[in-house]
Amino acid sequence: MKLWLVLCLALIWVELHNGACQQLKRRKDAGESRVRPGGRRVKRPLKPKEGGAKGQSLLTQVLDKGRFLRLGPSTALPPGRSVELRCKGSSIGWSYPAYLDAYSDSRLSVKHSDKYSQLLLTAPSAADTGPYSCWVIVCDGTECEKDHDRSYVSYIYFTDKDNLFVPSAIHFEIVYLRPDRPAVVPCRVTDPQAKVSLHREVPPEELNANETLVTYDPTKGFVLQNPSPEHQGVFYCKAVARGTPQISNKFHLLYVEVPVSPPFVSLEAFPGSVRGGDDINVTCTVLGEPEVDVSFLWFYPGQDHHRPVRVHTSWRLVNRGKGHVTRQSQSVLTVEDMETIDFGEYMCKTKNPQGETIVATNISNISP
Ligand SMILES: *[C@@H]1O[C@H](CO)[C@@H](O)[C@H](O)[C@H]1NC(C)=O
Ligand SMILES: *[C@@H]1O[C@H](CO)[C@@H](O)[C@H](O)[C@H]1NC(C)=O
Ligand SMILES: *[C@@H]1O[C@H](CO)[C@@H](O)[C@H](O)[C@H]1NC(C)=O
Repeated sequence: MKLWLVLCLALIWVELHNGACQQLKRRKDAGESRVRPGGRRVKRPLKPKEGGAKGQSLLTQVLDKGRFLRLGPSTALPPGRSVELRCKGSSIGWSYPAYLDAYSDSRLSVKHSDKYSQLLLTAPSAADTGPYSCWVIVCDGTECEKDHDRSYVSYIYFTDKDNLFVPSAIHFEIVYLRPDRPAVVPCRVTDPQAKVSLHREVPPEELNANETLVTYDPTKGFVLQNPSPEHQGVFYCKAVARGTPQISNKFHLLYVEVPVSPPFVSLEAFPGSVRGGDDINVTCTVLGEPEVDVSFLWFYPGQDHHRPVRVHTSWRLVNRGKGHVTRQSQSVLTVEDMETIDFGEYMCKTKNPQGETIVATNISNISP
């Protein structure tokens, strides 16, 4: 297996939704001539108003005997049979479910010609269910961008009666509930006609989809409009089309109530009082949102003297009563066998996407 693929498989557990793998793959492909969707492509002279009439989708499916089917907002197709999509225009970008980038790109190919661009997906399966989109790229000199007025999407369901739920690599997924935004339990289906319900495991109960608070969207899953601590727990979805009901993977819903802000930091030295020859641990702790990364930078008295120290950084999720979950990120700086140069100010600088916070403490020698 290629290294980037192995990396992706590992990363996908952590960053399923932010497209990290696509970026990784794109960087890797940067040297190749193949055009990746979303990436900048080679400029071509712009022909304005090419393609169909305004408002009509330029995204079509090629059927047998050279017939074309203009794709609407959603389409249901049988799995197994290769799919060819075309988009009219000389300069076209594509996007497709992230899953295809991460796992099995050899089944997917994109080719461009002067008049249209073609996306070919061989042996599609339930897992390929998702939005397929193409758009016209317009260029002004060297700057190219997506023409949002000529962007078309069709959500394709690969309806598989053995896989009513779109398979996922994550068997036990964490869904964070926040008071200020809707939460999604991502049990998508491969058959838009399936009847889907949401169930709590313990105590066993069904969460009713009602128009205001909990809705089901087959392209997303269950959407909880106003998540609250009462929605926490382990859930699964159940789908019925024809035949026996099927059960989805499990979802752990966790309630999070941490304001988005620069890191909230505390700094502690252990032991509290030291003398020459002692060992010391200085611990810098940040509490924050579960998915937000925090970085640490240390400044300490022996730094200019290249004093060897050890730094150990880690994080874990902490349940802070009433089921509120925060991420505790920690960096521990260890100095062994304290010397004169080691006494003084220890400073921990922490950073998250919202800003940075610096804390400091003075360590003095209790027996000079
Ligand atoms: C919708 O469901 C929620 C949670 O199950 C419930 O509290 C609420 O009363 C329901 N609303 C309506 C209009 O049925
Ligand atoms: C510092 O932390 C390490 C790792 O947790 C531990 O093994 C060591 O005993 C600690 N030292 C002191 C002085 O607390
Ligand atoms: C540590 O000591 C220095 C020098 O006395 C002082 O300037 C600094 O403000 C102190 N820092 C803290 C965090 O108390």
